[in-house]
Amino acid sequence: MADLTIQAGTASTLVCVEPSGLGRVGLHLGAAGSRDALVITDSHVGPLYGQRLIESLEPGKWRVQLESVPAGEASKSLSSVHKFYETAARMRLGRDGWVIALGGGMVSDLAGFVAATWMRGISFAIVPTTVESALDAAIGGKTAVNLVSGKNLVGVFHFPKVVVIDPECFGTLEARDVRAGLAESIKHALISSHDALTWHEAYAEAVLRLEEPFLSDLILENVRVKADVVAEDPFERTGRRMVLNFGHTIGHAIETCTEYRLRHGECVALGMLGACRLSRDVAGLDARIVERVAGLLGRFELPVGLQESVAVDEIMNVIQLDKKSRAGQVQWVLLEDVGKPVITPDVPDEAVRTACESLLESAG
Ligand SMILES: NC(=O)c1ccc[n+]([C@@H]2O[C@H](COP(=O)([O-])OP(=O)(O)OC[C@H]3O[C@@H](n4cnc5c(N)ncnc54)[C@H](O)[C@@H]3O)[C@@H](O)[C@H]2O)c1
Ligand SMILES: [Zn+2]
Repeated sequence: MADLTIQAGTASTLVCVEPSGLGRVGLHLGAAGSRDALVITDSHVGPLYGQRLIESLEPGKWRVQLESVPAGEASKSLSSVHKFYETAARMRLGRDGWVIALGGGMVSDLAGFVAATWMRGISFAIVPTTVESALDAAIGGKTAVNLVSGKNLVGVFHFPKVVVIDPECFGTLEARDVRAGLAESIKHALISSHDALTWHEAYAEAVLRLEEPFLSDLILENVRVKADVVAEDPFERTGRRMVLNFGHTIGHAIETCTEYRLRHGECVALGMLGACRLSRDVAGLDARIVERVAGLLGRFELPVGLQESVAVDEIMNVIQLDKKSRAGQVQWVLLEDVGKPVITPDVPDEAVRTACESLLESAG
């Protein structure tokens, strides 16, 4: 069990990484505010973990309402937000009440938006139940909902007061979702340090088996890496947070071109490999690092070649579209070395094309 307090601007978040921590969420929420909580979850997670969360609040005599939305990205919508506002009104959730998110990143983004806007912002806690959300979505204060026109177009920053990560919750995830979530851990390792990369090489199989203490150690390290970056640029104003997009420019393009049939983390794995090759070609990254990254992705059973038939032109087009929507600049996150990310708009199209082609060519 480990507690960590992370700071972003004036907001401070207590992060607890604790096997069986789900049963102690009530203790971690502390004595601040009223003991009224709207718990927001989804139709998969509610039946698995809702009862245990509610039981953890019983000793503190909380007044709790648990409400869920259908699992899946389509629920991250303004109509779900509206439904939760009505519930909050019915239960007379006051300014000193809480919203608690129980679920993956879809739930925490949605619940965070409700918490940020109900009564102009009330206390928010997250109990992430996916690897993706524990390593990424629960840290950093971004909340969001989707519109038909695009993902995450509406949102505000609202930092949770408490995040309780119980790694035992990952036991009910599909192995493929665990692996995809771990792609974000490799991302954090590559932008942070050689030690982090070596650690992943040493313990890949133990982590995949969800073995302790390796899994909790990995979660804590990821929280630290992301929190350090976020602390320097809490509201995404200086560009510092952009390093967290490593692997995501090509990754997002592949996600779009394969019409979201692959997991986000699988696309990020391909995107990171592409970005590493690009870094080798234009930013001086040692070729041996590129080989190590490919080997590591393989050991995490993440893709190193795209199996679907996508033309390189399609990927290039999506990257160009992205460029247009950001006033002509694609901000590439490249690595000069492990732990030395650089952000640059100046990457020749030909080099990008070569890197993307390499992902198609290595398909089996
Ligand atoms: N706010 C941020 O900084 C940030 C960062 C990364 C991703 N995101 C957002 O997070 C979302 C993706 O998150 P995700 O990958 O966690 O997806 P998700 O929340 O949709 O969860 C994936 C699936 O797993 C199920 N599930 C969750 N926990 C489970 C468990 N313990 N056992 C069994 N099933 C479980 C869910 O019901 C769902 O069907 C996207 O909406 C993305 O935009 C936000
Ligand atoms: Zn990601």
